Amino acid sequence: MLETRDVHQYYGSSHTLRGTTLTVPPGTCTVVMGRNGVGKTTLLRAIMGLVAVRSGNIKFGEKELVGAEASYRARVGIGFVPQGREIFGQLTVEENLQVGVYARTDGKKEIPELVFRLFPVLKTMMHRRGGDLSGGQQQQLAIARALTIGPKCVLLDEPTEGIQPNIVHEIGNVIRKLYEEEKLAVLLVEQKLPFARRVAERFYLMERGTVVAQGKMAELSDELVQKHLAV
Ligand SMILES: Nc1ncnc2c1ncn2[C@@H]1O[C@H](COP(=O)(O)OP(=O)(O)OP(=O)(O)O)[C@@H](O)[C@H]1O
Ligand SMILES: [Mg+2]
Repeated sequence: MLETRDVHQYYGSSHTLRGTTLTVPPGTCTVVMGRNGVGKTTLLRAIMGLVAVRSGNIKFGEKELVGAEASYRARVGIGFVPQGREIFGQLTVEENLQVGVYARTDGKKEIPELVFRLFPVLKTMMHRRGGDLSGGQQQQLAIARALTIGPKCVLLDEPTEGIQPNIVHEIGNVIRKLYEEEKLAVLLVEQKLPFARRVAERFYLMERGTVVAQGKMAELSDELVQKHLAV
């Protein structure tokens, strides 16, 4: 299980994460929702060691992540799909996936078969440049790349942003397989409520760097949505 406890983070003098506490158990999908700028991406970047944490703990099982170098996350089995995808446009699909494989520390050099089982379309595009794929295909590639390390946990930051509905649906199916069949711990950041409701089983709502509500997805009331998500 992944766990953040009372995490505080600053950008300069701006206090962004204000005691963020949450858990991400295996075999389910936990969604973090909240309006623009509440600190969702910052939280994921803190977990990944890409921004410094002032205080608090981030644990993966028994392992403390605060203070460890960013590359330690791949070693313990945490994959990351950043907001805006960040695939390498000049590299081919195959090369993008190989970059992920290089982060493995178990000596394996092959792209895991799971990647092509979940994204058969990528198999037909191995020699295409990442930058020539559609937005939806790039998102699938970004998820596939996160899976090349054989993670136990994946963090996805708004994977449906700017993507056509049929691929959004496919990505939802993939996320469900990741926790239902592969038993991964999935932490999803999402603004689209219908997608979150279909894919996630647990939710956290954030306001200004703090969790203000949490529960089972079925318990997410219209009142909470109105209060913390409606613009
Ligand atoms: N590198 C940075 N330097 C300074 N401030 C930053 C930086 N990145 C983000 N911020 C600020 O920190 C706050 C939280 O940003 P963050 O990107 O975590 O929000 P978010 O919840 O992911 O928003 P969105 O839904 O728009 O993706 C915002 O006020 C943002 O302007
Ligand atoms: Mg964000």
